[in-house]
Amino acid sequence: MSNQAEFYHELLGQTKALISNESDIIANMANVSALLFEHLTEVNWVGFYRVIGDELVLGPFQGKVACIRIPLGKGVCGTCVLTGEVQRIADVHQFDGHIACDASTNAELVIPVKVEGKVVAILDIDSRAFDRFDLVDEQGLISLVQAFEQNIAAMDNAHV
Ligand code: SME
Repeated sequence: MSNQAEFYHELLGQTKALISNESDIIANMANVSALLFEHLTEVNWVGFYRVIGDELVLGPFQGKVACIRIPLGKGVCGTCVLTGEVQRIADVHQFDGHIACDASTNAELVIPVKVEGKVVAILDIDSRAFDRFDLVDEQGLISLVQAFEQNIAAMDNAHV
């Protein structure tokens, strides 16, 4: 296993340990944000947005204050919800409709959180480094979100 793959393997173990005994989705989003912000290098913002009606609403995060509501389909985050696909953007300035919450952000990785095939939230990770996220980052963080999704079924307020 490469160092980077090993890093994500350990991060997955820590994530599972953090969320496995807690059923509150907000508490789990908060701790996962903190874990990622502490361990990922060259990252200036990590957090969740929840899908509420036809908007994304800011959830637990680490980093500077951010946009509170994003219409579905707008920006990198809204595009992730609409397509249901991971958005791995090397240069956000080339992304049509990117929403610049922090002008210093240059790269972004957004992963959908799904329950029964429906996107209920997204995990957004921002970096000041162009092309910060490669395929190993994407796969490692998808695995982490999958662990989060598996735990959602047991969470009290997953759909709020
Ligand atoms: N840049 C995102 C908005 C969220 S912030 O980066 C925290 C977007 O274009 O959707």
